[in-house]
Amino acid sequence: MSLLSVENLHTHFISRDLDNRIRVFRALNGVSFTLDAGHVLGLVGETGAGKSLTATSLLGLLRPPAKVVAGRAMFAGQDLLAMDPDALNAMRGRDIGLVTQSPKSSLDPLSRIGDQLIRILRAHAKVSVAEARARAEKMLDSLGIPDPVARMRAWPHELSGGMAQRVLIALALMNAPRLLIADEPTTGLDVTVQAQILDLLRDLVRRTGVGAMIITHDLGVVAHYCDRMAVMYAGAIVEAGPVSAVFARPTHPYTANLIAATPERLRLGSARSIGGAPPNLLALPEGCAFRDRCPMAGADCATPPPAVALGAGHVVHCHRA
Ligand SMILES: Nc1ncnc2c1ncn2[C@@H]1O[C@H](COP(=O)(O)OP(=O)(O)O)[C@@H](O)[C@H]1O
Ligand SMILES: [Mg+2]
Repeated sequence: MSLLSVENLHTHFISRDLDNRIRVFRALNGVSFTLDAGHVLGLVGETGAGKSLTATSLLGLLRPPAKVVAGRAMFAGQDLLAMDPDALNAMRGRDIGLVTQSPKSSLDPLSRIGDQLIRILRAHAKVSVAEARARAEKMLDSLGIPDPVARMRAWPHELSGGMAQRVLIALALMNAPRLLIADEPTTGLDVTVQAQILDLLRDLVRRTGVGAMIITHDLGVVAHYCDRMAVMYAGAIVEAGPVSAVFARPTHPYTANLIAATPERLRLGSARSIGGAPPNLLALPEGCAFRDRCPMAGADCATPPPAVALGAGHVVHCHRA
């Protein structure tokens, strides 16, 4: 059984226009994927595809007017989307670790690193301060942070971007979660630091059996560090499977185009390899969301694409598969 199983997640932004008519921005339109313990899943897609919103929807971190309107997300025998907010709150930080973009702004500027680590551990586990301190130092050490004892006394503003990102990972891992969600954990860091941190995350998954979801717009990150990948377009997964299978046989025209256009480390956010633009999510037509940009589109693409299994867990949502 999968550690996390997301089925048909729909998240909408619901507002009213000047004429008081209801407007529905369909940001997530049926996101489905699974993640197994001990695996790294890469959730990949262009900026605006709905990657971050997928994470915040699962973790109960949406703010109005965003609202989950349908779906199920089974984790540890419970549906995250139907849980009581307090229970989900307790689960976050204990069973599910979250590493966000921009580490500097995610750390509490008013507390020393060590205090933040001790606090998050003691919020969820009955341990003495001395024991928490010892565990925090060990965690910093295991994340390749030199001189952890001294570093415990550091303030967030004293850390480099790479160091701050490691501290954020340490915070996410203090309670030994079973699931780790990292949203663009290395975007904005230089390439060497990025590689060190992603190496570390992958080793951690192998060593501890935690299941990790890495959200990225960088296909190179997926190719190098992930076991499975899910390609997102206009709020839905268009293709998913083992990284080797998807790269060997990209089947959705969107995925095929992305991978063909990848010399080495294509940054999807700035890629302009496909003509046209993603559909207007305020007036999403029935059928395949990619059809206006798709060179292979036909009349049948105006109906919802079927899920086609290609073997070994490789699935594509396309009429042409
Ligand atoms: N607070 C918000 N209000 C309105 N629209 C939003 C808000 N946050 C995100 N969106 C929209 O939801 C879509 C998905 O955003 P996001 O999940 O952040 O994309 P990604 O992480 O893939 O770049 C985008 O079209 C974005 O404009
Ligand atoms: Mg994002």
